[in-house]
Amino acid sequence: MAPKLITDLIAEDMQAVDAVIRDRLASDVVLIRQVAEYIISSGGKRLRPALLVLVAGACGYRGKAHHQLAAVVEFIHTATLLHDDVVDDSSMRRGRATANATFGNPASVLVGDFLYSRAFQMMVEVDSMRVMQVLADATNTIAEGEVLQLLNIHNIETTEDDYLRVVRSKTAKLFEAAGRLGGILSGVTPELEQALAACGAHIGTAFQLVDDILDYSGELETTGKNIGDDLAEGKVTLPLIFALRNAAPEYQGLIRKAISEPAETDLDRVVAAVRECGALDYARTQAETESGIAKDMLALLPNSKYRDCLLELATFAVSRNY
Ligand code: IPE
Ligand code: IPE
Ligand code: MG
Ligand code: MG
Repeated sequence: MAPKLITDLIAEDMQAVDAVIRDRLASDVVLIRQVAEYIISSGGKRLRPALLVLVAGACGYRGKAHHQLAAVVEFIHTATLLHDDVVDDSSMRRGRATANATFGNPASVLVGDFLYSRAFQMMVEVDSMRVMQVLADATNTIAEGEVLQLLNIHNIETTEDDYLRVVRSKTAKLFEAAGRLGGILSGVTPELEQALAACGAHIGTAFQLVDDILDYSGELETTGKNIGDDLAEGKVTLPLIFALRNAAPEYQGLIRKAISEPAETDLDRVVAAVRECGALDYARTQAETESGIAKDMLALLPNSKYRDCLLELATFAVSRNY
């Protein structure tokens, strides 16, 4: 769950979002219900729907469509997780075996497709061309980001810019859409809509930077995910990019080998080298910068409890350990 300040303020809204989620998982196909409920009932922080609901609240929205759109955003997120765990061959998520480990890759991919297409059915019901445009673009960009990331695997030439492009696409884009939709629903000016979108994108970027740090320094008990998966699959995230350039010379060859042939490398030594050269501190500083930009943008909103919670969300993106 999100931090308490946030869950307290929007408890009723998030219950309404949950009700939409449960209701719209319905399908006559038993396997769809099994797999979808398996991943959705295992929790998740619900940060993207919370962001949408908070922005709508901060902009004085009075309607009901934010619950539906928040559920849409969570469905899209869940679909990407089902697909991502297949691609990453991950075995743990949200403190239990992944859907692919439990039901197999084919079921995970196909139920991911079901959730994507259910999300599209639901967004059409909101009957706003602008809303559909934002979500169609976001979904397409997320897919691009995942493919770009695939191309960077095992690639020692991957730069910080390449990495950031992947992060902005695969993760920040959905946070951006959540912030933007909260603004669109509330009928804000184009300038404020743009600022809310950018704010979401910066929170999302900080969030992924920290996810990539936690893959080196977190605990399975708190993150609910296996630690070290990125390194083991040759995924070149910021800690590794920094270490490639800044680790002591005797480690450089080892790190290069880890990227191109992780299965043949002593990865514990690589993790130690990444930690020692200050790579995690560097990535954290970048995350703090992103979070700080997001907070500056929130100054455009009138003072409210919703705005306080958005600031809290930007802080949590960096301070979290799960
Ligand atoms: C996991 O997202 C995927 C990333 C973008 C790092 P979350 O950490 O928000 O996943 P849940 O929904 O809380 O499990
Ligand atoms: C996030 O990347 C994936 C998506 C945005 C779909 P990761 O691969 O780092 O996410 P986790 O660590 O598996 O949750
Ligand atoms: Mg993954
Ligand atoms: Mg990760």
